Amino acid sequence: MSDTKILAIETSCDETAVSIVQNGYQVLSNVVNSQIESHKRFGGVVPEVASRHHVENITMVIDEALQQAQMSMDDIDAVAVTEGPGLIGALLVGISAAKALALSHNKPLVPVHHIAGHVYANHIEKRLTFPLLALVVSGGHTELVVMKDHLDFEIIGQTRDDAVGEAYDKVARTIDCPYPGGPHIDRLATLGEDNLELPRPYLDDSYDFSFSGLKSAVINKLHNLNQKGISYKKEDVAASFQASVIDVLTEKTFKALKAYDINQLLICGGVAANRGLRERMTTMCEAEGIELMIPKMNLCTDNAAMIGAAAYYVYQNQHFADMSLNGKSNMSIH
Ligand code: KG4
Ligand code: ZN
Repeated sequence: MSDTKILAIETSCDETAVSIVQNGYQVLSNVVNSQIESHKRFGGVVPEVASRHHVENITMVIDEALQQAQMSMDDIDAVAVTEGPGLIGALLVGISAAKALALSHNKPLVPVHHIAGHVYANHIEKRLTFPLLALVVSGGHTELVVMKDHLDFEIIGQTRDDAVGEAYDKVARTIDCPYPGGPHIDRLATLGEDNLELPRPYLDDSYDFSFSGLKSAVINKLHNLNQKGISYKKEDVAASFQASVIDVLTEKTFKALKAYDINQLLICGGVAANRGLRERMTTMCEAEGIELMIPKMNLCTDNAAMIGAAAYYVYQNQHFADMSLNGKSNMSIH
């Protein structure tokens, strides 16, 4: 069978990204144009600003991805795009560009779920084997997903309030770290101590998560200390928050690993870049003899290579979209 080359577009949040991926795992080019600098001064992503940046950049990023792969549209078999979930205006820019390319070059249009993309970021380095468990931890998602086959997603647990990355960003703001706060907390945590006695929100017997209470616990704790005139170190706040998050994520993940017959554990999404989480999961998986996969740092945060990887299997299933494809800000994965 000949090679399948997919041009993939991802614009669900604040990265304008285009990649060309061959056969679901060979990355021929991977261009990410980040808008983080533009959103920093607002302390978070401003949807209208994100859409405008995508419009300004998308054509250039597509051209660059083709150029880096030394290809023209004639070499491409299909155009893939993130359908959702994400910011609606941002998604629509990528979808409109993908439709225009697919229509003008007569290529099939392949819709991809953003979270499927995060999961398939792992497939780029090493192939997925089933059944697997994926811990999806990003700015918008916290999910435990069981997969028995390609594109077969069963969500067994999810957050009931804030996503873990969102909690990272909010806690970071309380200690004056710029957006996105996750990497700052991660760095500060290595310099501090877990001495704030924060709760571990395990909830009930479910695999669900809750991070909003933990975020409020940090805010209340700092407020109390301030009122009493007791000083605290940012590093200790970061270490305490991160220790609680990692305890909860690992506890729930290992509970699920024991309950399901699992071949591989995957961690993905922006928070998978967290060094503390990577270290703890690596140690625990070694001790338990579980195969662990975590994408390289640049494939943890939003990118289009992951969309191109997942798109290969959508393409194999011939699940194509027509020109009525619309962005979906909320979109279930199954
Ligand atoms: O996957 P992603 O790029 O976008 C979404 O789909 O949401 O994830 C972004 C999130 C942000 O909340 C950011 O603070 C967090 O990932 N993040 C981290 C780290 N690097 C990025 N959180 C904790 N530790 C990190 N090293
Ligand atoms: Zn994402």
